[in-house]
Amino acid sequence: MRDTACADDLLTWYDKHARDLPWRVGPAARAAGIRPDPYRVWLSEVMLQQTTVAAVKPYYDRFTTLWPTVEDLAAAPDDQVMGEWAGLGYYARARNLLKCARAVARDHGGRFPSTREALMELPGIGSYTGAAVAAIAFDAPEVVVDGNVERVMARLHDIRTPLPAAKPELTEAAAALTPDSRPGCYAQAVMDLGATICTPKSPACSLCPWMHACAARAAGIQAELPNKTPKKAKPTRLGIAYVARRADGAWLLERRPDRGLLGGMLGWPGSDWSAAPTPAPPLAAEWTELDEEARHTFTHFHLRLSVMVAEVPEAARPDRGTFHPAAAFRPSDLPTVMRKVFDLARGRLEN
Ligand code: ADE
Repeated sequence: MRDTACADDLLTWYDKHARDLPWRVGPAARAAGIRPDPYRVWLSEVMLQQTTVAAVKPYYDRFTTLWPTVEDLAAAPDDQVMGEWAGLGYYARARNLLKCARAVARDHGGRFPSTREALMELPGIGSYTGAAVAAIAFDAPEVVVDGNVERVMARLHDIRTPLPAAKPELTEAAAALTPDSRPGCYAQAVMDLGATICTPKSPACSLCPWMHACAARAAGIQAELPNKTPKKAKPTRLGIAYVARRADGAWLLERRPDRGLLGGMLGWPGSDWSAAPTPAPPLAAEWTELDEEARHTFTHFHLRLSVMVAEVPEAARPDRGTFHPAAAFRPSDLPTVMRKVFDLARGRLEN
């Protein structure tokens, strides 16, 4: 038997307190029959993976202005899409975003399929995104579980098994609560509850529609859950980045191979990233090492890049990379680590 009382209480709370988000059709509009645009739901859900609402908003606005429909995005040049994604991180998402848009435009007449199963056939759509788009855009009674939902379920049911081992148990708990009525609003309501009330550090229990149902609160340990298995410490890798500026102001840049970290993104030519990187200057020049390193943390390691700079003549012929005229180079096209390198190097080269 489903516990519909819990879902009803949460939906009543959502009707009053739903966050106003640019990609969202709120509960009142939804009740008036307005349906969300599946393209916008999909785009927002891909952007929101591992990324905060605040970070996503300007990117979402820019993408929907440049490309209002999935066909528009499908027709965009790869380099422009990668450039617009720069700074948002997890660049495989952008590569898959384009692949998915093109598959929807080519194979589905520009319309997203409406079931989780069919959505999951598309590039970059896994079980989370498939369930989220099916629920939010098509009101399918799918179970949508992100980090917020895991935290809410662990507390509501006082599940003390540490993450990630607790995932199946938490998903089962989430499934038991997902209602057949208004599943799209419900999915967004649990996420909003986790983001605004049932927050990681100091949950605002007195405002919570599930306060009386919450088993962790009854035990007084709500703020301690979910338990987590400690993560391994991240190793530090080293590398060398080479920033060459030609006498006419052009910058030597290299597009990274599609696969792997920062795949498909523009960057400075460089060494490997390892415990002991091998120097790999992209052309013979008088390289100067900057005093300050560029530091960046990726999911699995910290990176410390030493930055080499050189001014080179117009006749310079690099072994790797291409010179981008100053007028065609937008620092905002660089992923964050490469942008940090540029911010250190430009002071030495631009005068
Ligand atoms: N986080 C990820 N997707 C979300 C959504 N649709 N609503 C609220 N928070 C979210």
